[in-house]
Amino acid sequence: MRTGAYAGAGLVAGAPARPSEWHALTRYTIAHVSDVHVPPLPPLGAADWFSKRLLGLFSWHRKWKAEHRMEILAALERSLEELSPDHICVTGDLTFTTHSGEVEQAARWLASLGSATGVSLVPGNHDAYVPGALEQACRAWAPWMTDDASAQQCFPFLHRRGPVDIIGLSSGIPLRLPRTVGRVGAGQLDALRELLARIADDGRPCIVLIHHPPQEGAARRGKELLDREALRRVLTEERVDLVLHGHLHRPARATLTGKHGPVEVLGASSASALGDRYAPAHYHLLEFDIEDGQIATTLRHVRYDRALGAFMPGTGEQLAPLPVSSAAA
Ligand SMILES: [Fe+2]
Ligand SMILES: [Fe+2]
Repeated sequence: MRTGAYAGAGLVAGAPARPSEWHALTRYTIAHVSDVHVPPLPPLGAADWFSKRLLGLFSWHRKWKAEHRMEILAALERSLEELSPDHICVTGDLTFTTHSGEVEQAARWLASLGSATGVSLVPGNHDAYVPGALEQACRAWAPWMTDDASAQQCFPFLHRRGPVDIIGLSSGIPLRLPRTVGRVGAGQLDALRELLARIADDGRPCIVLIHHPPQEGAARRGKELLDREALRRVLTEERVDLVLHGHLHRPARATLTGKHGPVEVLGASSASALGDRYAPAHYHLLEFDIEDGQIATTLRHVRYDRALGAFMPGTGEQLAPLPVSSAAA
């Protein structure tokens, strides 16, 4: 769907570039979108009236229905068309109760964003609302969360897109309300460490996607990532350049001190929110400028302007340059 400078360089958007081809590229862009909770909430089935989904339904109508708006999602779509990023990363909470109608609705929304090669997705806690729901959602959203090499749906998955490596983690677990904590789990952490060690020598910038924030103090008690300390150990001991997350419904930022350099952690707010309860809708645009084997990264906040009914890109902010070794062929 997206055609940017990358496609203009004669390569297929969404496909990985070989290091020798990077030098031909000028700019590669990634939009980071989160917590869309695709509205509206479809009617629940009879069985759902005896599950946690009933509480979710009350919560949606009492608090969230007025916040997550279809017209903002439409404005998001227009904004993404206009800015035309080469790739889109979605960090979870596509649904509110993981009801089958919501899962299908979210799959249609994902398909409208782009193909399997143009979008990378990880699930959030709302996509694992009741036991078994995450598995159902993952089946429906498999095209956007399948590992390139194994062609299997698994976490962590690896997407090699343009000049960057994108790794997806799952942190959603079914819980009793009002807890919305997440957990990556020992198996996934071991696999992440192994994967990072395996790709380190390829020298490509590495972006990790996760719904819950890994940094300390970002989420209050009851909403936090339970094994964040163990995850941070992997993120800082192996080579990771950027972590993109959601969950907080407000923009967040932190820097972890990594053994190989700083690990920038960026949280996007909900991309469908009016802003009456938390921050107004917002997403990140990351611009990677590639020149002579080096990558300069610019972060742009794209915020929803309620008066204009449109997303407006802000001024760019330069992030720490990626080490030369990350971009060297
Ligand atoms: Fe959310
Ligand atoms: Fe969440």
